[in-house]
Amino acid sequence: MLDLAGRTLIEKSYDLSPSVELAEATRDIYQRMKRVVSFADWAIYAPYVVAINDLKKRRDAVILAHNYMTPEIYHGVADVVGDSLQLAIEATKVEAQVIVQCGVHFMAETSKILNPSKTVLIPDPGAGCSLAESIDAAGIAEMKARYPGAPVVSYVNTTAEVKAVSDICCTSANAVDIVNAQDSDVVIMTPDRFLAQNVARKTDKTVVWWEGSCIVHELYTAEDLREYRAHDPEIAIIAHPECTPEVVAEADYTGSTSGIVEWVHAHKPKKAMLVTECSMASNIADELPEVEFSKPCNMCPHMKKISLEKILHSLHTMTTEVNVAPGVAADARRAVERMIDLSRSQAGRAGR
Ligand code: 13P
Ligand code: SF4
Repeated sequence: MLDLAGRTLIEKSYDLSPSVELAEATRDIYQRMKRVVSFADWAIYAPYVVAINDLKKRRDAVILAHNYMTPEIYHGVADVVGDSLQLAIEATKVEAQVIVQCGVHFMAETSKILNPSKTVLIPDPGAGCSLAESIDAAGIAEMKARYPGAPVVSYVNTTAEVKAVSDICCTSANAVDIVNAQDSDVVIMTPDRFLAQNVARKTDKTVVWWEGSCIVHELYTAEDLREYRAHDPEIAIIAHPECTPEVVAEADYTGSTSGIVEWVHAHKPKKAMLVTECSMASNIADELPEVEFSKPCNMCPHMKKISLEKILHSLHTMTTEVNVAPGVAADARRAVERMIDLSRSQAGRAGR
């Protein structure tokens, strides 16, 4: 929730009372989430959506939103949606003066690193990530000392400071390819031990890891998934690689958040369980009316800090700006750009 002072400010500046009239006028947007958002709720969201879309134009701003944003953000105000790799690539192409990052802090830092002349705003600077918080530059130094000469592949879910002392970054979409491309038999992966263990099963390299984990994905267990499947043998189980290898072994498909969206679109299973953050299924429910999405899912408390009212406040006050010290940014940029270049050349070779 926005604090009282912030709430008072936006209420004084915009008419944010629920409006059936505005909800009707924006029905084209509402159509994209009608399975998961009631029209009564849309009447509450519509005044925010209209105010934000109008303010975006006046501020020369674009909204980059992660796939875990809630449907009213994902469909209502985002200019670009995607997984971490896609958002990083899109950040390099932004021409508008302002980027509003609807996601967590490391994503906003990545946009600033890749497009430093832009003003990058995050609607809630407290939107962190358990993985990014699990390691610092001293942790990378410790791993380098333990495995001399081994390259450090850091997940983008890290701070700029950690990226700056890493050899290259990876995301869940390209981790196996990035590890395979390293000119060393031993590769250090930080900070997600489960992503590292899942990659280790798909490469001939010896992968060593930091002991971090995602507080959302570590909650799933293979036993739970087996129970769901026993109860409902038709169900397609689709997992994110931040889950444990035991969970991944139970899944019909494992991939990045955008990989998951693509897989469900391509296979259109009658029933699907997305073993990841809750908003994923909600955001694609209306694109895939033939698929029944079964819960449970787990919510990311960090991603859920981003709301329409905070986005409006952020654009209105032009806060909170995300900056990265130039020296750190230059080193971090090298690691992120190496990843993007490698991903692009591999996609080119594979004709993707
Ligand atoms: P993706 O890169 O797959 O979108 O994952 C980012 C993330 O934080 C998942 O928890
Ligand atoms: Fe970080 Fe996990 Fe939240 Fe993704 S879901 S932002 S990895 S805490």
